[in-house]
This record gives sequence, structure tokens and C-alpha cells, in this order.
Amino acid sequence: MVHPAARHRDRAGGAGVHAVRAGHRGRAEPEAEGASVVSVLAISDLTVTYRTAGGDVPAVRGIDLSLGAGQKLGLAGESGCGKSTMALALLRLLPKTARMTGSIMFDGEDVLTMSWGRLRAVRWAGASIVFQGAMHSLNAVQRIGSQIAEPILLHSKVGEAAARRRVGELLEHVGLPARRADAYPHELSGGQRQRVMIAMALACDPSLIIADEPTTALDVMIQAQILKLIESLVAENGISLVMISHDLSVLADTCDRLAIMYAGRIVEEGPAAEVFRAARHPYGAALAAAFPTIGDPSSRRSPRGLAGDPPDPADLPAGCTFHPRCPVRLDYCDRIDPQLWPAGDGARAACVHVLPDQGLSLVQKEPA
Ligand SMILES: Nc1ncnc2c1ncn2[C@@H]1O[C@H](COP(=O)(O)OP(=O)(O)O)[C@@H](O)[C@H]1O
Ligand code: SF4
Ligand SMILES: [Mg+2]
Repeated sequence: MVHPAARHRDRAGGAGVHAVRAGHRGRAEPEAEGASVVSVLAISDLTVTYRTAGGDVPAVRGIDLSLGAGQKLGLAGESGCGKSTMALALLRLLPKTARMTGSIMFDGEDVLTMSWGRLRAVRWAGASIVFQGAMHSLNAVQRIGSQIAEPILLHSKVGEAAARRRVGELLEHVGLPARRADAYPHELSGGQRQRVMIAMALACDPSLIIADEPTTALDVMIQAQILKLIESLVAENGISLVMISHDLSVLADTCDRLAIMYAGRIVEEGPAAEVFRAARHPYGAALAAAFPTIGDPSSRRSPRGLAGDPPDPADLPAGCTFHPRCPVRLDYCDRIDPQLWPAGDGARAACVHVLPDQGLSLVQKEPA
């Protein structure tokens, strides 16, 4: 099941969000630490803007991120911060109203400029997405076996019998008996349907799986089982994973690295355990405090919430977009635009509090 390209990739490469966007508004920019030498995925200065009747909605505002073979990156943030927009952009699945700039290098090819034919092949055989709410993604009137077989027949150039055998294997891989291939989606539970979605995502041996809130609609016990399943399947098969959730504790438990999004940007990134235990960005710290540590009963007693809501991307606050909610803002935070800066232990955060004294003078202060 190991994707052939994944076998020879540099497994030691770090999943890293690059420190700052290149040359943006002339700011001084630190070198990226821990960026992968060989990346399955390398996103540079990605922006996504939705065009609506009410005006432009800049949902993703300049993301740099890279992911090495077999690495697991968690992406967290409250609802509306641009997680799904970024996930959909990775495979150009956004609606026509979305305009994208930047580049998304997948196995050395730019997804944003590749032909439709090539893109179709990449969507199944290179990278696949597992969404929340499997019921809506499955065809209600087609047996699940033939739904899983479809991409195999299309992309793997095998006959019907071999595809059927592969479907059986895949179902067993995701913890379902092979005979369930004959079932219709409504005959399965929510957790079983999500397992089918995972089998479909694995069908063509992808080198990357993007899981966008894959367990949100499921009950807590099933959520844990599905997450463990995804974790073990990607590990066994050397698949890279981008796992999206609003729940930082789940990601800290599953992923190698964590990136935290706010108002369309990554505001903190680093080793998962480190970011969860000691986030350097006040937003990361608030998110971490809002969720109990898995397996630590004492952490359940005092989850601290965060007042207010994330901003509307069509009407962002000036300066640091987090300043209206920030418990440690400084008087000039409404006039600065902090970028990701090294914050120790291979982490980075976009906050004046992580800047060294000399770095503070490098933050662009906008006129009062
Ligand atoms: N098709 C769309 N048209 C206009 N705005 C959209 C569209 N899809 C998402 N948005 C807006 O983009 C922002 C980011 O949304 P989304 O990527 O779904 O965030 P998340 O997944 O983090 O909840 C939100 O403000 C949302 O309202
Ligand atoms: S830059 Fe200022 S407002 Fe933004 S997170 Fe840091 S302290 Fe808070
Ligand atoms: Mg979403």
C-alpha cells in the first residue's frame, strides 16, 4: 500500500510553516526553521478570495506551509478562520467565485496551474480528502462497494475482479467486513460511513490525505476510533496527513506538528506537543486552554474560553487581527502586522511578544 513516490522521500524532513511570506510589504524576514528539504506539499503565499455580491471575502491571506513524506500536520482554529477554504484550495475544489494566488506544489507540480486532466488524476491517485458528514458525500442509491471501486477502475487500470478484491481489502483495512461492500449507505452507521470514506480516500494509494473535521458529526467514542484508524493507516502506509479540527487536543494527540489559523493566516506553528502545552501566540494559548488534555483529568477542571468571535474576513480589524480579543495586546497592536517569527523549539508565532528586542523594530508599524 505504500505510495511508490513516498518510499524514497526524505522522511526526516520537517513539516514547517515558513517563517514569513517572501518580500511582503518589504518586511525583514527570518529564515524558515525545520522546513522540509523534500516536501510532498509546499504551499507558498497562498491567498483565496471569494467574490460575493457584498464584495471580496479574503478567506485565506498568505499561507506558507510545507509537509514532508509521512508527516502529520494538524490545522486548528475556530469556525470561519479559513481551514476548509485552504483544504479545498489544495485540490482546486473551490467554487468558481474563489480566486487563488500563490503556489501549491504537490510532488513538485503546481496544483494551481496544472491541466484539468492532470488534476483529476492527482485528486484520486495523489491526494484525497475526507470530509465531515459522509452521508452527503456518498451516493445514496449505489452500493458502497461499487463507489469504492469506481476510482480504482478509473485510475488503477485493473479489471472488475481485481477491483472487487481491492475493495474487500480496503474495507477490512478500515475495520469493516468485506461483505459490507453490498450495503447501501443508509444501512451503515455514521461511524461506518466515515470508515467507507476513509477506504475511498485510500483506494488509489495517495501520498497525501487531507481530513477536514472527519469526525465532527460522530459521537465521542466513535470519533476516537476513527482518528486512531486514520492515524494508524497513514503511519502504516507512509502517507502524509493534513488533519483539520477546531479541537486542539485531538490534533495534539494525533499529529507531529500543529498550525493554528486565525482570520485566514497561520499565527502559530510548531511541534504538536509543544504548541499544545505552551503555545506562544495568545490565540494558540486560548485555544489550547479551551480543550482538556486527552488522558489528563485535572485539565478538564479549568478550560478557559476566549471572549468574542473571530472577525468577519470581509471586515478585518486593523493591525494584528487578533487585537480586539487579545488579553495581552500592547497599545500599538492595532497598528502592526506581526508575521511568523521563530519562537523556540522549532516553533513560530506571529505576535510582538515573541519578537526579540531588535526584531520589534523590524515589525512594520503603520501610521497612527
Ligand atoms: N463560497 C463562499 N463564498 C463566500 N464566502 C465564503 C464561502 N465559503 C466560505 N466563505 C467564508 O470564508 C471564511 C472561511 O470559511 P471556511 O474556510 O469555511 O472556514 P473554517 O473551515 O475555518 O470554518 C468564512 O468567513 C466563510 O463565511
Ligand atoms: S501582536 Fe499584539 S494583539 Fe496580536 S497577538 Fe500579539 S499581543 Fe496580541
Ligand atoms: Mg471548515
